[in-house]
Amino acid sequence: MNNEFVVTPYGVSGEVDYDVLIQRFGTKRIDEPLLKRISKYGPLHHMLRRQVFYSHRDLEWVLDEYDKGNRFALYTGRGPSGPIHLGHMMPWTFTKYLQDVFKVNLWFQLTDDEKFMFYDHLTLEDTKKWGYENALDIIALGFDQKLTKIFLDTEYIKTMYPLAIRAAKKINFSTIKAVFGFDNSNNIGSIFFTSIQTVPCFLESMEKGRKVPCLIPCGIDQDPHFRITRDVAEGLGYYKPALVHAKLMPSLAGAEKMSTSTKADTTIFTTDDKKTVKKKVMNAFTGGRVSVEEQRKLGGNPDICSVFQYQAYFFEPDDAKLAKLQADCRSGGIMCGECKTILFEKVWKFLEEHQRRREKAKDVVQEFFIRD
Ligand code: TRP
Repeated sequence: MNNEFVVTPYGVSGEVDYDVLIQRFGTKRIDEPLLKRISKYGPLHHMLRRQVFYSHRDLEWVLDEYDKGNRFALYTGRGPSGPIHLGHMMPWTFTKYLQDVFKVNLWFQLTDDEKFMFYDHLTLEDTKKWGYENALDIIALGFDQKLTKIFLDTEYIKTMYPLAIRAAKKINFSTIKAVFGFDNSNNIGSIFFTSIQTVPCFLESMEKGRKVPCLIPCGIDQDPHFRITRDVAEGLGYYKPALVHAKLMPSLAGAEKMSTSTKADTTIFTTDDKKTVKKKVMNAFTGGRVSVEEQRKLGGNPDICSVFQYQAYFFEPDDAKLAKLQADCRSGGIMCGECKTILFEKVWKFLEEHQRRREKAKDVVQEFFIRD
């Protein structure tokens, strides 16, 4: 068992063992019976079938309430620190699926305050600008305008502040240090910040004037924030939020989480042009052998191949087609160059359409935003 890794919202290091993480965080696996239950509401998303969204807290309870006619609200967010890449889009496409299946409201938080406080190089103007830029990618995914509210923390703070300080009063500094790994050198804004990420769990309840369940689809790195939220929720008069957790999308360089700051060459941004995307995919890390002859003879290894992971996580929803690709790779029936070309064509087809929708989003972006 691999224990040499760390996952917090503010840093992922080492090679993440997602089974160990479930134990460490105390979450539950999305198992077969639960998958079967979810499939009654609509076709199972491939990210569920393939265990990309693989862990949860209280998802059964949220469905129990839904069955009784007590609909939940969805909540997710983005820290606007730079451009959007495919790794960011993965949980959002899944969030869109949940909105389509359950026809529920979505609160989308843009934490311009967080990214300002955590990054020396970013001004508040920068994070706000990225917030509006990033919102175009969010809207381009096709969220239902009638059911979706997007907000920047600094532009919705009047509504959130009373609840934020009620939460903050219940959270100790020692908890923050332990959960996020902070020490005395962290600025005091970052210590307070988690209370701002807590608030949207309760915005639907506040608006409706009664307790409404909240479901948060997110990367599992965000779970520590919501562990704190769950500890204070009932004391504030609300339900604990439920969560569904995704694995972190691997980069084209191999196993680690996609990062904007360090790996520009192995990260595909939504605004990359065709040539750039092609270059990045063609340079990706694969599970191929040293020579074509050897690969024909011994086959490749899809388990460690970033190109295969991209197909599995995102671009090949058809299980039979994915299985064939896997088998062809293992048997040496397909070479890495061909495989990369197949992936490139899919990625580009997706991005070309996304870029068109992203342009169109500029006409409606104001309608999605709420301010106070
Ligand atoms: N803190 C997250 C980030 O840095 C952004 C965020 C805010 C978020 N609220 C959330 C992510 C809810 C998932 C769910 O990216």
